[in-house]
Amino acid sequence: MLMTPGPTEIPKKVRKAMGRKIQNPDIEEEFIDFYLMLEDKLKKVYGTRKDMLILGGEGILGLEASVASMIEKGDKVLCISNGIFGDGFADFVKMYGGEPHILSAPYDEVLDMEGIEKAVENDDFKMATMIHCETPTGVLNKLDEILELLKSRNIITVVDAVSSLGGVPVPTKDMDICIGGSQKCFSSPPGLTTVSVSEDAWSVILDGEQRSFYTHLAPWKKMWFEEKYFPYTHLVSNLYALNAALELLIEEGMENVFQRHIDCAESCRSRGQEIGLELYPSEVNLSSPTVTAFKLEGRAKEVQKKMMLENDIVLATGLGDLENDILRIGHMGNNARSEKVEKTMDALQKCI
Ligand SMILES: Cc1ncc(COP(=O)(O)O)c(C=O)c1O
Repeated sequence: MLMTPGPTEIPKKVRKAMGRKIQNPDIEEEFIDFYLMLEDKLKKVYGTRKDMLILGGEGILGLEASVASMIEKGDKVLCISNGIFGDGFADFVKMYGGEPHILSAPYDEVLDMEGIEKAVENDDFKMATMIHCETPTGVLNKLDEILELLKSRNIITVVDAVSSLGGVPVPTKDMDICIGGSQKCFSSPPGLTTVSVSEDAWSVILDGEQRSFYTHLAPWKKMWFEEKYFPYTHLVSNLYALNAALELLIEEGMENVFQRHIDCAESCRSRGQEIGLELYPSEVNLSSPTVTAFKLEGRAKEVQKKMMLENDIVLATGLGDLENDILRIGHMGNNARSEKVEKTMDALQKCI
């Protein structure tokens, strides 16, 4: 039983859709109609009317493409971070010639609003990057106020919502770019990243010099939005799967989906408390409804192995310096089912 915070277990209907006979996306008009419908479904799940892109490549491609498409030599970028993915954005900025200014908070804490206010007062940033759910620590950042402030300063906002989209409400209103991944709460196979793009973001993307093709978003504007053909052969089977996955979410109703995630997170945490496990985030209300990170200092890898060998349940550990100190349960997407969480926690109780 796959209980990791991505990839998540894929429902049968989605696997079946992936095995469908394929169409030629460059020739068959029905495919264009299908693709337009797919974009609409994504907009519903995102809760936005902004342009929607689906790129062939997982979440990381969305992160890199956002930077590659908008950052030029010497551009200043505010990288707001309380985790590995937040820090990682700064590496992309450097790689593409920009100047990152990392504003960091401890990994188990909230982002520092005062620090952000000061930073934007004293400097001239073209873009700001941030993470909605830091999957490696299970922290869900509150972004509304931060995004509002950044937009009031005409700063382009880029948000990684890879492990929250489709599992918790995402405040997309003030996001110029919002990135999702097929393998997390959508419970579709790994292989696609979804990116919403605002008008402000398009002006920056189309203004600059285009120094790459596959990682640049400009070809999508010129080819797909203006001419209705794809810059490269699309991942047809993955798109069929994503379509079926989104259909399941929409049929269930997003409010019900969000509540299912909250319920699963609560029962995971209360069972954890019974076993004596402590949450990694400093406060319970910082924990994302999509993933729970328990502290297991120096033992996480051993417990992960035992869970796999003795119970056939796959969990994740922490990442980087916290690899052996955090055990993560991904109750997101199709993993957010009370029976799966209960089974996982029964096994974990025995294991611990
Ligand atoms: C917050 C976050 N961003 C980006 C990614 C990258 O996604 P992928 O590894 O699927 O490319 C992940 C994957 O775990 C993630 O958790």
